[in-house]
Amino acid sequence: METATKTTFHGFAFQPILKIRNLNAYYGSHKALHSINVDIPEKQVTAIMGPSGCGKSTFIRCLNLMHELIDEASIEGDIMFHDKDFFAMDPRVIRRKIGMVFQKPNPFPTMSIYENVTAGYRLVNEKKRKVELDELVEENLLKVGLWDEVKDKLRHPGTSLSGGQQQRLCIARTIAVKPEIILFDEPTSALDPIATSRIEQLIYELKTEYTIVIVTHNMQQASRISDYSVFFLLGDLIEFGDTETIFLNPKHPKTNEYLTGKFS
Ligand SMILES: Nc1ncnc2c1ncn2[C@@H]1O[C@H](COP(=O)(O)OP(=O)(O)OP(=O)(O)O)[C@@H](O)[C@H]1O
Ligand SMILES: [Mg+2]
Repeated sequence: METATKTTFHGFAFQPILKIRNLNAYYGSHKALHSINVDIPEKQVTAIMGPSGCGKSTFIRCLNLMHELIDEASIEGDIMFHDKDFFAMDPRVIRRKIGMVFQKPNPFPTMSIYENVTAGYRLVNEKKRKVELDELVEENLLKVGLWDEVKDKLRHPGTSLSGGQQQRLCIARTIAVKPEIILFDEPTSALDPIATSRIEQLIYELKTEYTIVIVTHNMQQASRISDYSVFFLLGDLIEFGDTETIFLNPKHPKTNEYLTGKFS
């Protein structure tokens, strides 16, 4: 059985938190991912790039068991999470350890800022003493840089915040359950440049504690915040590498064509 010791993958030495082997993902008979093999480095930022429809969202949805929630969708292949068989693990544990932040900020609409931060935590923890919840809210809003902006209106609806603040609230809700991995699916594409840059800075800071996988169409964003990059095309993984090499000296001509804007 494979173990999650430091390994060499495509010539890179790093600690993999996920090892993905021969992963196929289907929607009915449509095969959206073709035998994907990749290791995700622990406590690093990995960017997933590629044109629309190439399977980026499908790939990250496979990593927290959201793909199988879709009607007719199925998966083949193996994933090791640390040294464990991902598919043999309790799905509730996987969803707690691997969180997801979406393109459109989605605070729970009927809940206050405070309740949004505690929502996931309350589902998985029995101890719900007010003092602990208060601490949890402050700690996680501080981490996402939102505390000073909202500390006087914690009982206001989460949806009363600006788009960028809502996205930081969603990140606070995600990290409040102490995940190991955070999957981001184009988290800034609905945000203005200032809100985007705050989220980018936050993602950069979060990697000291969490493993980050981020889907992005924004190549400058990938080059600014990621350590490793993956390039997908039509459901195939074309290239994996450290971000600097992928951007300055990609091995595959298709990666180069994409990065130089020959197709999008
Ligand atoms: N719920 C679904 N049902 C059926 N087919 C789907 C579904 N979601 C995605 N697909 C198909 O799977 C393929 C990959 O889609 P996916 O959404 O993963 O691409 P993507 O790279 O995230 O694209 P985008 O950049 O536009 O978000 C596409 O052919 C898409 O049409
Ligand atoms: Mg997508």
